[in-house]
Amino acid sequence: MSKPIELKVSKIENGTVIDHIEPGYALHVLKVLGITGKEGHVVAVVMNVRSSKMGRKDIVKVEGLELSKEQVDLIALISPRVTINIIRDYRVAKKFKVKPPERIDNLLKCVNPNCITNQPNEPVRSSFKMVSIKPLIYVCEYCGAKLTLADILTQIR
Ligand code: CTP
Ligand code: ZN
Repeated sequence: MSKPIELKVSKIENGTVIDHIEPGYALHVLKVLGITGKEGHVVAVVMNVRSSKMGRKDIVKVEGLELSKEQVDLIALISPRVTINIIRDYRVAKKFKVKPPERIDNLLKCVNPNCITNQPNEPVRSSFKMVSIKPLIYVCEYCGAKLTLADILTQIR
């Protein structure tokens, strides 16, 4: 029997491994992290590899980077099954699963141009409440407009 081809990616020394990303979403995760490649971080991006838990998955490894709470929340929105591993001295120092937040404040724009949160002269911050997790749907607390995963993806492009 032939051996299945396995893609080997180096371990990292210090940084973050974002594992179990929905297959095909690694580039959106890089966008959330603000990584273009020009910043000089050592980065490994793996797409559509076999996973026992998910069938297929993407992985992003970034040397020398720890994520902010806002970044973790955005990653949870685009890939709710993600596991974040904080690596210190080649070891997994911390491992946690992300969870799409019940509320998202001051992070995303309402899709309704007439919403009070989109008026330049009104200092009202956006606020959304989750109404469905699968499919992922939030509603604006001010105007009730729906915000879907597709809307979120256009905002982090
Ligand atoms: N990893 C890494 N560099 C290290 C340590 C771990 O890149 N120095 C990566 C591993 O390749 C893996 C992820 O971090 O993609 C999590 O590592 P580990 O917890 O050892 O793997 P699993 O037990 O398979 O993780 P899980 O149970 O979350 O699937
Ligand atoms: Zn609104």
